[in-house]
Amino acid sequence: MGKPPPGKCSQEVCFGLLVSFVLCLVLLCLNHSTSLGANNWIDLSMSKQVRPIGVMKINNTEDSCSDRYIYIHDDLPSKFNSDFLINCKSISAGISSSSIPSMCPDLVNLGLGPKIENSDGVLANESWFITNPYLLEVIFHNKMKKYECLTSNSTLASAIYVPFYTGMDASVHLWDSNLTIRDSSAKNLVKWLSGQPEWKKMWGRDHFFVSGRTSWDFRRVRDNSSEWGSKLRFFPESMNMTMLSMEGSLWKNDIAIPYPTSFHPAKDSEVVQWQNRVRQQERPYLFAFVGAPRPHLQGSIRGKIIDHCQASTTCKFLHCGENNCHNPVNIMRVFQSSVYCLQPRGDSDTRRSAFDAILAGCIPVFFHPATAFSQYLWYLPKNHTKYSVFIPVRDVKDLKEEGIIEKVLQGISKDRELAMREEVIRMIPKLVYADPGSRLDTPDAFDIAVQGILERIENVRKVIREGRDPSIGFAEGDGTKFTFPDTVD
Ligand SMILES: *[C@@H]1O[C@H](CO)[C@@H](O)[C@H](O)[C@H]1NC(C)=O
Ligand SMILES: *[C@@H]1O[C@H](CO)[C@@H](O)[C@H](O)[C@H]1NC(C)=O
Ligand SMILES: *[C@@H]1O[C@H](CO)[C@@H](O)[C@H](O)[C@H]1NC(C)=O
Ligand SMILES: *[C@@H]1O[C@H](CO)[C@@H](O)[C@H](O)[C@H]1NC(C)=O
Ligand SMILES: *[C@@H]1O[C@H](CO)[C@@H](O)[C@H](O)[C@H]1NC(C)=O
Ligand SMILES: *[C@@H]1O[C@H](CO)[C@@H](O)[C@H](O)[C@H]1NC(C)=O
Ligand SMILES: *[C@@H]1O[C@H](CO)[C@@H](O)[C@H](O)[C@H]1NC(C)=O
Repeated sequence: MGKPPPGKCSQEVCFGLLVSFVLCLVLLCLNHSTSLGANNWIDLSMSKQVRPIGVMKINNTEDSCSDRYIYIHDDLPSKFNSDFLINCKSISAGISSSSIPSMCPDLVNLGLGPKIENSDGVLANESWFITNPYLLEVIFHNKMKKYECLTSNSTLASAIYVPFYTGMDASVHLWDSNLTIRDSSAKNLVKWLSGQPEWKKMWGRDHFFVSGRTSWDFRRVRDNSSEWGSKLRFFPESMNMTMLSMEGSLWKNDIAIPYPTSFHPAKDSEVVQWQNRVRQQERPYLFAFVGAPRPHLQGSIRGKIIDHCQASTTCKFLHCGENNCHNPVNIMRVFQSSVYCLQPRGDSDTRRSAFDAILAGCIPVFFHPATAFSQYLWYLPKNHTKYSVFIPVRDVKDLKEEGIIEKVLQGISKDRELAMREEVIRMIPKLVYADPGSRLDTPDAFDIAVQGILERIENVRKVIREGRDPSIGFAEGDGTKFTFPDTVD
């Protein structure tokens, strides 16, 4: 789910491969040029300056929002957001063709999509939706409108949220072969932003926006129309801003936040009930794979994964070819009946499926560090052996031994399995986006994102106060971010 339908994939994948190749070259240069300054890098994710969420003291003399005010750039011209909603008929998420069904039905319920009325007992009765993950930017905006520490006075704000619908804009322009047209709205956006009085305060370093696509879609390195993506994230203004999206890039100002799943609880009790439910689930299958093969994607291990699954009597395979995976009920039914869920890379490094698995209490099995470990740093436990299994696969050859996946999984003790599942279930509340119409006491994925961005910006502010250069450590490329570690524990 969440990937372009077959037919369009191969095109995107080709572009992706090209991009990867060029990026490798670029990063070699970057690595070279920044290696001297490496010791001076500031880790913007480290120090905790901002009061944690939930710690709202009952003390009237102190403003509980004092370091958490956010200003929404509501004056952003409508062509950057609400016009897309009005014109939803001619927009199709993730694909360019206008012959594809419109996005309007997905936009209902504040962007959560249509409610699932009957799940055949697979899901809870309330709070499940057919959510289009590309609409993360709309869901985030709707949640931001309800944020408890908004200010209409930007001088009081710790952060400036730009409600630009990057992904929707991409649906309109990303496939244009004319690069001037492809980059036009991105260019207009940064021009508009840097012309506003809010910009001067921190030269945009307190600005952030959210995208319902992967960062790679906005990281075109060269001006060659056969290369994928827009240049949005390479404009000088963008180097001063942070983007949150479902998949980060090698650059430090592209930060990954979870894919939206189909569960959007409206009450804390719904989350607890769901956790109890998946904890008690019977899991007849040892492992499962939900997805489609990628025959055109060179080096894809999916074919092999499917072979391994089909050769095993304890594996459940759900083929996503025939629109089986549009309905979350089908996916969740499989994940809830399995102990382990295989998560090879999709068209890009990350998959929404990893979040569906965790939501179902299914222990994810990763094959590449870039699928989760090096992405969702604000969300996942640092020690990945606590909640997941890692079978490093650098190459299809690594899977040539028959039954190797099953063997690895069979070899895991019952105790470790239980401990991992408990950790997975513990992670659920932070990984769901609660219904934008309600407020939960437990921090959800949105709350964690807001906390993370406030801390990042506060650290930049500290650097500026101390007279240091805020550009160091802000937007550099880190060529090693998505590579395999030397040692695998
Ligand atoms: C309330 O906060 C102020 C400022 O931090 C502090 O001086 C005061 O002692 C607090 N009062 C109570 C009742 O905690
Ligand atoms: C959920 O809905 C089904 C069918 O409408 C109903 O039989 C069941 O009692 C409901 N469960 C709860 C917990 O409300
Ligand atoms: C915004 O806040 C600043 C700092 O407290 C204050 O000086 C200014 O008057 C406020 N502006 C408005 C329009 O309220
Ligand atoms: C691309 O579009 C711009 C703006 O519409 C136009 O001026 C330019 O000629 C186009 N370039 C090509 C190569 O078609
Ligand atoms: C653009 O990229 C294509 C494919 O890599 C290549 O064949 C072509 O020569 C490039 N064009 C320019 C102007 O660099
Ligand atoms: C980016 O920030 C730096 C200061 O950190 C500033 O000098 C530069 O002008 C800013 N760039 C833009 C395009 O505003
Ligand atoms: C990571 O977690 C595993 C399982 O809980 C534990 O055995 C291991 O010691 C931990 N490693 C580190 C570095 O904390």
